Amino acid sequence: TATPPWWCDAVIYQVYPRSFLDTDGDGVGDLPGVTRRIPYLARLGVDTLWLSPFFSSPMADFGYDIRDHTAVDPLFGDLADFDALLASAHAHGLRVLIDYVPNHTSGEHPWFLDARTGRHSRRRDWYVWRDPAPGGGPPNNWITLFGESAWTLDLKSGQYYLHSFLSSMPDLNWRNPAVQESMFDVARFWLDRGVDGFRVDCAPLVAKDPALRDNPGASAGTLAHHRPMGGYDGQLHLHDQGHPDLHRIYREFRTVLDGYGDGPGARIALGEIHEYDWAAWSRYFGRELDEMHLPLNFGLLRTSWEPGPVRDLVQEVTAALPAGAAATWVTGSHDDPRVATRVGPGQAANAMLLLLTLPGAAILYNGDELGLPDADIAPQDIRDPWGLRTPALSRDPSRSPMPWTAGPAAGFTEGGVRPWLPLARPPGGDAAAQEADPGSLLNLTRRILALRRGHPALGAGGIEFTDAPEGVLAYTRGSSPDGPSLLLTLNMTDRPVRLDKLPAGGPWHRHLSTAPQPPGAPAPSDPRVLAADEGVVWRR
Ligand code: NOJ
Repeated sequence: TATPPWWCDAVIYQVYPRSFLDTDGDGVGDLPGVTRRIPYLARLGVDTLWLSPFFSSPMADFGYDIRDHTAVDPLFGDLADFDALLASAHAHGLRVLIDYVPNHTSGEHPWFLDARTGRHSRRRDWYVWRDPAPGGGPPNNWITLFGESAWTLDLKSGQYYLHSFLSSMPDLNWRNPAVQESMFDVARFWLDRGVDGFRVDCAPLVAKDPALRDNPGASAGTLAHHRPMGGYDGQLHLHDQGHPDLHRIYREFRTVLDGYGDGPGARIALGEIHEYDWAAWSRYFGRELDEMHLPLNFGLLRTSWEPGPVRDLVQEVTAALPAGAAATWVTGSHDDPRVATRVGPGQAANAMLLLLTLPGAAILYNGDELGLPDADIAPQDIRDPWGLRTPALSRDPSRSPMPWTAGPAAGFTEGGVRPWLPLARPPGGDAAAQEADPGSLLNLTRRILALRRGHPALGAGGIEFTDAPEGVLAYTRGSSPDGPSLLLTLNMTDRPVRLDKLPAGGPWHRHLSTAPQPPGAPAPSDPRVLAADEGVVWRR
């Protein structure tokens, strides 16, 4: 059988550059900081990096508000720093994806500055402008993810412009072919520099109902109590998200990517899609697998950490996959609470084991390999614009800087300045301490990734769930003529559990355990007993 394309079982490590490593002493991470840690990432055993935005930006939304798509913001360095990062990553065998933000720009982008000079400006139609409703007020009832009107009145022209997020982030009008071509040129700029693809921000938002019809049931305020990234509700956003015309856009985007090669040199699109109706989600692959290579699946972030719901999710997602397509799994991101906090510190290792042993591509958020919990952020330290509006929506806790060493500011910055956000402390210690501790989550993550490399079927092969006692998630992976080659048993409880029977195809031997085992410790007297919180990989 042919080996699947490279992205189908990729392990993609998300770097949030602001919080990775600060080399110029301003309390904010930068591109040279990422470059300095490439050996660490290569040793960890991931194969692809995804960098959140580092482009020129007023930073109203920490870089998702782009002022110049082809310039590096001085906060992060310059283009030469980016080229050095890319060259070093490639030299270490790591691919690099960057963020691509098609839905909106910063209000300070020259395109918008031109558009807002007047109704007849050259780039007026690059954004979405409308007259007030007949009785006055916004043109329709669309709302932002904060539950406020998605329209802001421009006093100069008396028209409203559309923004799905902050009013300083106007939405582009992708129905204008000049916008599409200019945004494709942005992609070509980075592809020509050698990037291996893009994570497409807010992928479902690029096409809107041309008639701008009201959404059923939406009114300002409806969403204010929701976590914004909690999902694009089909009714609340019927006409401004997930419009069928976006498939044409992504097919054409795919053509741009495909123009750069295939096989190991293929450039890919990873789509940010908060869609939990798996049939609708799977459409982003395209009918002929000619749209997104990997639509992101955020299901694990919304599923309770228990065997039944996790198993159901994995089965539903894998059943919805078109033939030849690969799933993606995400346990953390810069928009969500940290996995170690969500599942609890005792289960962080099991969460890592699950992420890296499900079929498909895995996305690992920086710091999760250290078991980093959410940081405690005092009200006066909130920086996230969402958190400044609604403290409960703050994404700062999961954006706290990486703890590298026992030095000041955990080695994140050498400047003696305060890091831009307060630090969180992983229970297993900083990266240097975990490096030296064979039982650390960092070293466990390396062992799991090494196992994954040695067993291609772990990424690409099938999965079968098997019977297990209450509180235990059990599945087999990989197949050979005489059956599966690996068995996984995750004790999702904090008490020991005995596995009375192991699935057919054995005998099974313990191969890897998430429980820290000091060197020279005696083997467990009954191998079938899973300790509290223990996950085990069994081999035949
Ligand atoms: C999704 C990004 O992940 C998030 O951080 C950002 O605020 C929104 N898109 C807007 O670009």
